[in-house]
Amino acid sequence: MRTLFKNIKELIQVREEKITFLSGAAMSILPTIKNAFLIVENETISDFGKMENCPKENFDKTIDVTGKMVLPSWCDSHTHLVFAGNRESEFVDRIKGISYQEIANNGGGILNSAKKLQATSEDELYNQSKVRLEEIIHLGTGAVEIKSGYGLTKDAELKMLRVIKKLKENYPIEIKATFLGAHAVPSEFKYNKSGYLQMLIDDILPTIKKENLADFIDIFCETGYFSVDDTNKILKAGKEVGLVGKIHVNQFNSIGGIQVGVENKVLSVDHLEEMREEDFEALKNTKIMPVALPSCSYFLGIPYTPARKIIDEGLPLALATDYNPGSTPSGNMNFVVSSACIKMKMTPEEAINAATINGAYAMNLQDKVGSITKGKLANLIVTKEINSYHFIPYSFGNHCIEKVFLKGKEIKK
Ligand code: NIG
Ligand code: FE
Repeated sequence: MRTLFKNIKELIQVREEKITFLSGAAMSILPTIKNAFLIVENETISDFGKMENCPKENFDKTIDVTGKMVLPSWCDSHTHLVFAGNRESEFVDRIKGISYQEIANNGGGILNSAKKLQATSEDELYNQSKVRLEEIIHLGTGAVEIKSGYGLTKDAELKMLRVIKKLKENYPIEIKATFLGAHAVPSEFKYNKSGYLQMLIDDILPTIKKENLADFIDIFCETGYFSVDDTNKILKAGKEVGLVGKIHVNQFNSIGGIQVGVENKVLSVDHLEEMREEDFEALKNTKIMPVALPSCSYFLGIPYTPARKIIDEGLPLALATDYNPGSTPSGNMNFVVSSACIKMKMTPEEAINAATINGAYAMNLQDKVGSITKGKLANLIVTKEINSYHFIPYSFGNHCIEKVFLKGKEIKK
Protein backbone atom coordinates (compact mmCIF):
# COMPACT_ATOMS: atom_id res chain seq x y z
CA MET A 1 0.00 0.00 0.00
CA ARG A 2 1.52 3.30 -1.15
CA THR A 3 -0.07 6.60 -0.20
CA LEU A 4 0.92 9.99 -1.57
CA PHE A 5 0.28 13.19 0.38
CA LYS A 6 0.55 15.98 -2.18
CA ASN A 7 0.57 19.79 -2.09
CA ILE A 8 1.58 19.91 1.58
CA LYS A 9 1.79 23.61 2.43
CA GLU A 10 4.68 22.91 4.80
CA LEU A 11 6.14 19.58 5.89
CA ILE A 12 7.40 20.13 9.43
CA GLN A 13 10.22 18.53 11.43
CA VAL A 14 12.03 17.05 8.43
CA ARG A 15 15.22 15.24 9.42
CA GLU A 16 17.15 13.59 6.59
CA GLU A 17 19.29 11.68 9.08
CA LYS A 18 18.02 9.97 12.20
CA ILE A 19 18.90 12.13 15.20
CA THR A 20 18.77 11.18 18.86
CA PHE A 21 17.73 14.43 20.53
CA LEU A 22 18.28 18.18 20.36
CA SER A 23 19.78 20.40 23.03
CA GLY A 24 20.37 24.10 23.62
CA ALA A 25 20.55 26.32 20.55
CA ALA A 26 19.86 23.39 18.19
CA MET A 27 16.33 23.27 19.61
CA SER A 28 15.51 26.58 17.93
CA ILE A 29 15.89 25.06 14.47
CA LEU A 30 12.87 23.30 13.02
CA PRO A 31 13.61 22.14 9.47
CA THR A 32 10.68 22.20 7.05
CA ILE A 33 9.94 21.83 3.34
CA LYS A 34 7.40 24.20 1.80
CA ASN A 35 5.11 22.88 -0.97
CA ALA A 36 6.05 19.30 -0.30
CA PHE A 37 5.03 15.71 -0.99
CA LEU A 38 5.27 12.73 1.35
CA ILE A 39 5.02 9.04 0.45
CA VAL A 40 3.96 6.42 2.95
CA GLU A 41 4.59 2.78 2.17
CA ASN A 42 2.55 0.49 4.39
CA GLU A 43 3.40 1.66 7.92
CA THR A 44 6.41 3.88 7.27
CA ILE A 45 7.58 7.06 5.61
CA SER A 46 9.37 6.09 2.40
CA ASP A 47 10.04 9.40 0.65
CA PHE A 48 9.42 13.14 0.78
CA GLY A 49 10.62 16.28 -0.94
CA LYS A 50 9.57 19.33 -2.90
CA MET A 51 6.37 19.00 -4.97
CA GLU A 52 8.33 19.70 -8.16
CA ASN A 53 10.22 16.44 -7.56
CA CYS A 54 7.12 14.40 -6.74
CA PRO A 55 7.21 10.99 -8.53
CA LYS A 56 4.64 10.74 -11.31
CA GLU A 57 3.85 7.04 -10.80
CA ASN A 58 0.48 5.66 -9.64
CA PHE A 59 -0.27 5.38 -5.94
CA ASP A 60 -2.89 3.25 -4.18
CA LYS A 61 -4.17 6.41 -2.58
CA THR A 62 -3.53 10.13 -3.09
CA ILE A 63 -4.43 12.69 -0.46
CA ASP A 64 -4.41 16.31 -1.57
CA VAL A 65 -3.68 18.50 1.47
CA THR A 66 -3.54 21.89 -0.25
CA GLY A 67 -3.28 24.69 2.36
CA LYS A 68 -2.55 22.23 5.19
CA MET A 69 0.60 21.22 6.98
CA VAL A 70 1.92 17.79 7.98
CA LEU A 71 3.99 17.11 11.07
CA PRO A 72 5.00 14.03 13.06
CA SER A 73 2.55 13.05 15.80
CA TRP A 74 3.19 14.30 19.31
CA CYS A 75 5.34 12.09 21.54
CA ASP A 76 4.00 12.21 25.10
CA SER A 77 6.70 10.68 27.29
CA HIS A 78 4.99 11.05 30.69
CA THR A 79 1.42 10.00 31.48
CA HIS A 80 -0.56 8.12 34.09
CA LEU A 81 -3.58 7.64 31.83
CA VAL A 82 -4.56 4.29 33.31
CA PHE A 83 -6.56 5.29 36.40
CA ALA A 84 -9.95 4.66 37.94
CA GLY A 85 -12.55 7.36 38.44
CA ASN A 86 -11.62 10.98 38.97
CA ARG A 87 -10.71 13.45 41.72
CA GLU A 88 -12.92 16.41 40.95
CA SER A 89 -13.85 16.83 44.63
CA GLU A 90 -10.17 17.52 45.44
CA PHE A 91 -10.18 20.06 42.62
CA VAL A 92 -12.98 21.93 44.36
CA ASP A 93 -11.17 21.61 47.72
CA ARG A 94 -8.11 23.23 46.19
CA ILE A 95 -10.20 26.09 44.80
CA LYS A 96 -11.38 26.64 48.36
CA GLY A 97 -7.80 26.93 49.57
CA ILE A 98 -6.63 23.48 50.67
CA SER A 99 -3.24 22.72 49.13
CA TYR A 100 -2.37 19.67 47.00
CA GLN A 101 0.02 18.51 49.73
CA GLU A 102 -2.58 19.00 52.50
CA ILE A 103 -5.09 16.95 50.53
CA ALA A 104 -2.48 14.17 50.13
CA ASN A 105 -1.61 14.29 53.84
CA ASN A 106 -5.30 13.78 54.69
CA GLY A 107 -5.49 10.52 52.72
CA GLY A 108 -6.53 12.13 49.42
CA GLY A 109 -4.27 12.42 46.42
CA ILE A 110 -2.53 9.34 45.11
CA LEU A 111 -3.93 7.17 47.94
CA ASN A 112 -7.46 8.22 46.99
CA SER A 113 -6.84 7.12 43.38
CA ALA A 114 -5.27 3.87 44.63
CA LYS A 115 -8.34 3.02 46.70
CA LYS A 116 -10.57 3.53 43.65
CA LEU A 117 -8.27 1.54 41.39
CA GLN A 118 -7.95 -1.39 43.79
CA ALA A 119 -11.77 -1.68 43.80
CA THR A 120 -12.00 -1.59 40.00
CA SER A 121 -11.83 -4.76 37.89
CA GLU A 122 -9.20 -5.14 35.19
CA ASP A 123 -11.87 -5.03 32.46
CA GLU A 124 -13.45 -1.90 33.85
CA LEU A 125 -10.04 -0.24 34.22
CA TYR A 126 -9.27 -1.12 30.61
CA ASN A 127 -12.58 0.33 29.45
CA GLN A 128 -12.03 3.60 31.33
CA SER A 129 -8.45 3.89 30.09
CA LYS A 130 -9.10 3.15 26.44
CA VAL A 131 -11.44 6.14 26.26
CA ARG A 132 -8.52 8.36 27.33
CA LEU A 133 -6.15 6.68 24.91
CA GLU A 134 -8.57 7.19 22.00
CA GLU A 135 -9.03 10.80 23.06
CA ILE A 136 -5.29 11.57 22.98
CA ILE A 137 -4.87 9.80 19.63
CA HIS A 138 -7.43 12.21 18.15
CA LEU A 139 -5.51 15.08 19.76
CA GLY A 140 -2.47 14.09 17.71
CA THR A 141 -0.44 11.89 20.04
CA GLY A 142 1.29 9.03 18.23
CA ALA A 143 3.54 7.66 20.98
CA VAL A 144 2.87 7.61 24.70
CA GLU A 145 4.41 6.37 27.92
CA ILE A 146 1.99 5.13 30.58
CA LYS A 147 2.87 4.53 34.23
CA SER A 148 1.51 2.26 36.91
CA GLY A 149 1.52 3.75 40.43
CA TYR A 150 -2.14 3.96 41.38
CA GLY A 151 -2.24 0.34 42.51
CA LEU A 152 0.23 0.29 45.43
CA THR A 153 -0.39 -3.42 46.06
CA LYS A 154 1.05 -6.31 44.10
CA ASP A 155 -2.29 -7.21 42.54
CA ALA A 156 -3.29 -3.68 41.68
CA GLU A 157 0.10 -2.65 40.27
CA LEU A 158 0.15 -5.75 38.05
CA LYS A 159 -3.46 -5.06 37.05
CA MET A 160 -2.41 -1.61 35.83
CA LEU A 161 0.56 -2.98 33.91
CA ARG A 162 -1.60 -5.66 32.29
CA VAL A 163 -4.09 -3.02 31.22
CA ILE A 164 -1.22 -1.04 29.64
CA LYS A 165 -0.07 -4.21 27.87
CA LYS A 166 -3.57 -4.84 26.53
CA LEU A 167 -3.85 -1.26 25.27
CA LYS A 168 -0.53 -1.78 23.51
CA GLU A 169 -1.80 -4.94 21.84
CA ASN A 170 -5.09 -3.39 20.72
CA TYR A 171 -4.11 0.08 19.48
CA PRO A 172 -1.75 1.23 16.71
CA ILE A 173 -0.20 3.98 18.88
CA GLU A 174 3.33 3.30 20.22
CA ILE A 175 3.13 2.62 23.97
CA LYS A 176 5.87 2.26 26.57
CA ALA A 177 5.09 1.05 30.10
CA THR A 178 6.65 2.29 33.31
CA PHE A 179 6.52 0.64 36.73
CA LEU A 180 5.87 3.38 39.31
CA GLY A 181 5.11 1.27 42.37
CA ALA A 182 7.07 3.85 44.40
CA HIS A 183 4.53 6.59 43.73
CA ALA A 184 3.32 6.92 47.36
CA VAL A 185 3.58 4.89 50.53
CA PRO A 186 0.25 3.05 51.06
CA SER A 187 -1.41 3.36 54.49
CA GLU A 188 -0.68 -0.30 55.39
CA PHE A 189 3.03 0.59 55.18
CA LYS A 190 2.74 4.05 56.74
CA TYR A 191 5.35 3.23 59.38
CA ASN A 192 7.27 0.76 57.25
CA LYS A 193 8.33 2.48 54.06
CA SER A 194 11.37 0.25 53.65
CA GLY A 195 9.08 -2.81 53.90
CA TYR A 196 6.99 -1.37 51.07
CA LEU A 197 10.06 -0.79 48.88
CA GLN A 198 11.26 -4.32 49.63
CA MET A 199 7.84 -5.68 48.60
CA LEU A 200 8.09 -3.80 45.29
CA ILE A 201 11.54 -5.25 44.71
CA ASP A 202 11.02 -8.81 45.96
CA ASP A 203 7.39 -9.46 45.01
CA ILE A 204 6.54 -7.32 42.01
CA LEU A 205 9.73 -6.83 39.99
CA PRO A 206 10.24 -10.57 39.31
CA THR A 207 6.71 -10.87 37.84
CA ILE A 208 7.25 -7.73 35.75
CA LYS A 209 10.40 -9.29 34.38
CA LYS A 210 8.82 -12.68 33.77
CA GLU A 211 5.77 -11.28 31.97
CA ASN A 212 7.68 -8.44 30.31
CA LEU A 213 5.26 -5.88 31.71
CA ALA A 214 7.41 -2.74 31.77
CA ASP A 215 10.16 -0.89 29.92
CA PHE A 216 11.02 1.68 32.59
CA ILE A 217 11.04 2.13 36.36
CA ASP A 218 10.06 5.39 38.04
CA ILE A 219 9.81 6.81 41.58
CA PHE A 220 8.37 9.99 43.12
CA CYS A 221 11.50 11.45 44.76
CA GLU A 222 10.02 14.14 46.98
CA THR A 223 9.76 15.26 50.59
CA GLY A 224 6.98 13.21 52.19
CA TYR A 225 7.14 10.53 49.49
CA PHE A 226 10.48 8.83 48.71
CA SER A 227 13.99 9.96 49.62
CA VAL A 228 17.16 10.13 47.57
CA ASP A 229 18.27 6.82 49.14
CA ASP A 230 14.95 5.18 48.27
CA THR A 231 15.38 6.47 44.72
CA ASN A 232 18.86 5.01 44.47
CA LYS A 233 17.59 1.67 45.75
CA ILE A 234 14.64 1.45 43.35
CA LEU A 235 16.66 2.55 40.31
CA LYS A 236 19.31 -0.07 41.05
CA ALA A 237 16.72 -2.81 41.59
CA GLY A 238 15.04 -1.86 38.32
CA LYS A 239 18.31 -1.97 36.46
CA GLU A 240 18.91 -5.54 37.70
CA VAL A 241 15.79 -6.65 35.82
CA GLY A 242 16.51 -4.52 32.75
CA LEU A 243 14.28 -1.54 33.50
CA VAL A 244 15.70 1.86 32.54
CA GLY A 245 15.15 4.65 35.09
CA LYS A 246 12.98 7.75 34.97
CA ILE A 247 12.23 9.96 37.97
CA HIS A 248 9.53 12.30 39.22
CA VAL A 249 11.86 14.85 40.73
CA ASN A 250 12.07 18.49 41.90
CA GLN A 251 8.30 19.00 41.69
CA PHE A 252 8.00 20.75 45.05
CA ASN A 253 11.52 20.51 46.53
CA SER A 254 15.04 20.04 45.26
CA ILE A 255 16.47 17.32 47.50
CA GLY A 256 19.25 15.77 45.42
CA GLY A 257 17.13 13.51 43.24
CA ILE A 258 18.64 14.79 40.02
CA GLN A 259 22.13 13.90 41.23
CA VAL A 260 21.06 10.35 42.07
CA GLY A 261 19.42 10.13 38.66
CA VAL A 262 22.67 11.17 37.01
CA GLU A 263 24.58 8.56 39.02
CA ASN A 264 22.14 5.90 37.87
CA LYS A 265 22.13 7.11 34.24
CA VAL A 266 18.36 7.51 34.06
CA LEU A 267 16.72 8.23 30.72
CA SER A 268 14.72 11.23 31.92
CA VAL A 269 14.15 13.52 34.88
CA ASP A 270 10.60 14.80 34.94
CA HIS A 271 8.81 17.83 36.51
CA LEU A 272 11.77 20.10 37.53
CA GLU A 273 9.58 22.97 38.72
CA GLU A 274 12.08 23.69 41.54
CA MET A 275 15.66 23.84 40.30
CA ARG A 276 18.86 24.85 42.11
CA GLU A 277 21.97 25.97 40.26
CA GLU A 278 23.68 22.63 40.98
CA ASP A 279 20.75 20.75 39.42
CA PHE A 280 21.37 22.40 36.04
CA GLU A 281 25.09 21.67 36.41
CA ALA A 282 24.50 18.00 37.24
CA LEU A 283 22.59 17.46 34.00
CA LYS A 284 25.29 18.90 31.77
CA ASN A 285 27.32 16.40 29.71
CA THR A 286 24.84 13.60 30.37
CA LYS A 287 22.40 11.88 28.02
CA ILE A 288 19.47 12.55 30.36
CA MET A 289 16.36 14.22 29.00
CA PRO A 290 14.77 16.84 31.27
CA VAL A 291 10.98 16.73 30.86
CA ALA A 292 8.68 19.68 31.59
CA LEU A 293 4.98 19.21 32.32
CA PRO A 294 3.41 22.66 31.95
CA SER A 295 -0.22 21.57 32.21
CA CYS A 296 0.58 20.21 35.70
CA SER A 297 1.89 23.66 36.68
CA TYR A 298 -1.21 25.23 35.16
CA PHE A 299 -3.63 22.95 37.00
CA LEU A 300 -1.89 23.05 40.40
CA GLY A 301 -0.84 26.70 40.20
CA ILE A 302 2.79 25.81 40.93
CA PRO A 303 5.85 27.32 39.21
CA TYR A 304 6.59 26.38 35.61
CA THR A 305 9.76 24.45 34.86
CA PRO A 306 12.47 27.01 33.97
CA ALA A 307 12.58 25.93 30.32
CA ARG A 308 14.34 29.05 29.13
CA LYS A 309 17.24 28.54 31.54
CA ILE A 310 17.41 24.80 30.81
CA ILE A 311 17.72 25.44 27.06
CA ASP A 312 19.97 28.50 27.43
CA GLU A 313 22.35 26.42 29.57
CA GLY A 314 22.69 24.12 26.54
CA LEU A 315 20.54 21.29 27.90
CA PRO A 316 17.83 19.40 26.01
CA LEU A 317 14.16 19.54 27.02
CA ALA A 318 11.09 17.44 26.25
CA LEU A 319 7.46 18.35 26.85
CA ALA A 320 4.82 15.91 28.09
CA THR A 321 1.30 16.05 29.56
CA ASP A 322 1.54 14.11 32.87
CA TYR A 323 -2.12 13.07 32.19
CA ASN A 324 -3.38 11.87 35.61
CA PRO A 325 -6.44 12.36 37.83
CA GLY A 326 -4.76 14.50 40.50
CA SER A 327 -2.38 17.07 39.09
CA THR A 328 -3.19 17.09 35.35
CA PRO A 329 -6.53 15.71 34.19
CA SER A 330 -5.67 16.45 30.56
CA GLY A 331 -3.71 14.58 27.91
CA ASN A 332 -3.76 17.38 25.37
CA MET A 333 -0.29 17.87 23.88
CA ASN A 334 -1.58 20.84 21.84
CA PHE A 335 -2.26 22.67 25.10
CA VAL A 336 1.16 21.62 26.42
CA VAL A 337 2.89 23.06 23.34
CA SER A 338 0.90 26.31 23.68
CA SER A 339 1.61 26.59 27.41
CA ALA A 340 5.30 26.00 26.79
CA CYS A 341 5.37 29.00 24.48
CA ILE A 342 3.07 31.24 26.51
CA LYS A 343 4.22 30.44 30.04
CA MET A 344 7.74 29.13 29.61
CA LYS A 345 8.80 31.42 26.76
CA MET A 346 9.82 28.61 24.47
CA THR A 347 9.66 29.49 20.79
CA PRO A 348 7.28 27.47 18.60
CA GLU A 349 10.34 25.75 17.07
CA GLU A 350 11.68 24.75 20.51
CA ALA A 351 8.27 23.60 21.69
CA ILE A 352 7.63 21.47 18.60
CA ASN A 353 11.09 19.90 18.86
CA ALA A 354 10.49 19.23 22.56
CA ALA A 355 7.10 17.62 21.87
CA THR A 356 8.30 15.40 19.01
CA ILE A 357 11.91 14.21 18.71
CA ASN A 358 12.90 14.95 22.32
CA GLY A 359 9.75 13.29 23.62
CA ALA A 360 10.54 10.27 21.46
CA TYR A 361 14.02 10.09 22.99
CA ALA A 362 12.53 10.21 26.51
CA MET A 363 10.75 6.94 25.60
CA ASN A 364 13.69 5.43 23.75
CA LEU A 365 11.62 5.63 20.56
CA GLN A 366 13.80 8.08 18.65
CA ASP A 367 14.48 5.52 15.90
CA LYS A 368 10.78 4.99 15.25
CA VAL A 369 8.93 8.28 15.72
CA GLY A 370 9.38 12.01 16.39
CA SER A 371 10.41 13.30 12.96
CA ILE A 372 9.71 13.07 9.23
CA THR A 373 12.54 10.69 8.37
CA LYS A 374 12.62 7.81 5.88
CA GLY A 375 12.00 4.51 7.64
CA LYS A 376 10.19 6.02 10.62
CA LEU A 377 6.56 5.16 11.33
CA ALA A 378 4.02 7.24 9.42
CA ASN A 379 2.48 8.65 12.59
CA LEU A 380 1.32 11.99 11.30
CA ILE A 381 -0.80 15.03 12.02
CA VAL A 382 -2.48 16.80 9.10
CA THR A 383 -3.46 20.29 10.19
CA LYS A 384 -6.44 22.37 9.15
CA GLU A 385 -5.67 25.17 6.71
CA ILE A 386 -3.30 27.46 8.63
CA ASN A 387 -0.99 30.28 7.64
CA SER A 388 2.12 29.23 9.52
CA TYR A 389 3.06 26.59 12.08
CA HIS A 390 3.18 29.39 14.67
CA PHE A 391 -0.60 29.10 14.64
CA ILE A 392 -0.31 25.70 16.38
CA PRO A 393 0.78 27.12 19.77
CA TYR A 394 -0.96 30.45 19.14
CA SER A 395 -4.43 28.90 19.00
CA PHE A 396 -4.27 27.79 22.64
CA GLY A 397 -7.19 25.87 24.09
CA ASN A 398 -7.99 24.75 20.60
CA HIS A 399 -6.20 22.60 18.10
CA CYS A 400 -5.44 22.78 14.42
CA ILE A 401 -5.70 19.06 13.72
CA GLU A 402 -7.81 17.91 10.81
CA LYS A 403 -6.68 14.30 10.53
CA VAL A 404 -4.36 11.90 12.34
CA PHE A 405 -2.55 8.89 10.89
CA LEU A 406 -0.95 6.06 12.82
CA LYS A 407 1.27 3.59 10.97
CA GLY A 408 0.04 5.12 7.72
CA LYS A 409 -3.66 4.61 8.42
CA GLU A 410 -6.10 7.40 9.08
CA ILE A 411 -7.71 7.09 12.51
CA LYS A 412 -11.31 8.12 12.07
CA LYS A 413 -13.55 9.18 14.96
O1 NIG B 1 3.24 13.49 38.17
N1 NIG B 1 3.86 13.87 41.29
C1 NIG B 1 3.48 12.73 41.36
N2 NIG B 1 2.61 12.10 40.60
C2 NIG B 1 1.67 12.69 39.69
C3 NIG B 1 0.42 13.14 40.32
C4 NIG B 1 -0.18 12.20 41.23
C5 NIG B 1 -1.58 12.49 41.67
O2 NIG B 1 -1.88 13.54 42.24
O3 NIG B 1 -2.42 11.61 41.45
C6 NIG B 1 2.32 13.79 38.92
O4 NIG B 1 1.97 14.98 39.04
FE1 FE C 1 3.66 12.20 36.71
